[in-house]
This record gives sequence, structure tokens and C-alpha cells, in this order.
Amino acid sequence: MERTFTMVKPDGVTRGLIGEVIGRFEAKGLKLIAIEMKTFTEADAAIFYAEHLGKGFYQSLVDLITAGPVVGMIWEGPNAVKLVRTLIGATNPQEAAPGSIRGDFGLELPANIVHASDAPSSAERERAAFFGQTV
Ligand code: CMP
Repeated sequence: MERTFTMVKPDGVTRGLIGEVIGRFEAKGLKLIAIEMKTFTEADAAIFYAEHLGKGFYQSLVDLITAGPVVGMIWEGPNAVKLVRTLIGATNPQEAAPGSIRGDFGLELPANIVHASDAPSSAERERAAFFGQTV
């Protein structure tokens, strides 16, 4: 069974949407494997978002992700990576379909409530970056 890494970002935590995100994934039938709340340092953010280094929005993304606690999770289910990407919606909340998490709750980038891995390989990289050897 496939696993994916997801994270409620500080904007989602501040707005009280942790339960909403978990509830949608559970309602779909996905299984929660691990969950932990922590606050990213700048170094954590640099590792997690290394692929975006040098992009115009990089600093605003780092500022957002280090602004407060995040909730990292591992979810399991058939085709979990693609399924969760569909449930959260397009990266830009202004383009995300109504019914998706970002479409229903997001307003403007970089604040888009929740992150989810875009491929099984990034799911494993992000799991390791967030949970280390504990999960
Ligand atoms: P996420 O799925 O966590 O992956 C990278 C993040 O960078 C993305 O969600 C947004 O928060 C942010 N991001 C991506 N593209 C842009 C953009 N064009 N402008 C601002 N922020 C962006």
C-alpha cells in the first residue's frame, strides 16, 4: 500500500484547520500512520524546500513555513500520493477547485494551508526529513 507525506502549514494551523484536513483524509478512507507537531527552523526549511532555492518566492515560503508550528503526517492508501494531491487541490488556491482543501480554504500564495508530496520518491525524502528514523 502506498504512503505519502502531508503537512498542515502554519497558516492552516493558525486558522484552526488541522481537524478539517485530517477529517477529509479520514473520510476518504486513508489511514493515518504517523503524526507530529513541530516548528521548522530556517535550516529545516532549507532542507525541506531545497528544490525551490533560488526561486522568486523562496524567502516568502521560508518565512511562512517557519512562522509557527506545522503538523506533519504520513497517510497510507491505494495510490495515496496522487489521491491526496487531488484532495488538497492545485498549488495556487485561486486556481484550486471548490471541494478541494485549498479551493475551499485558501486565498493567496504562498499560504495554501497544506503541503503534500508530489511523487513517491519525494514522499520518502520528505518523510525522512521530517520524521528521521522514528517512523
Ligand atoms: P507546497 O505544496 O508546500 O510546495 C511549495 C510551496 O511554495 C507551495 O506549496 C506554496 O506554498 C509555495 N509556492 C509555490 N509557488 C509559488 C508562487 N508562485 N508564489 C508564491 N509561493 C509559491
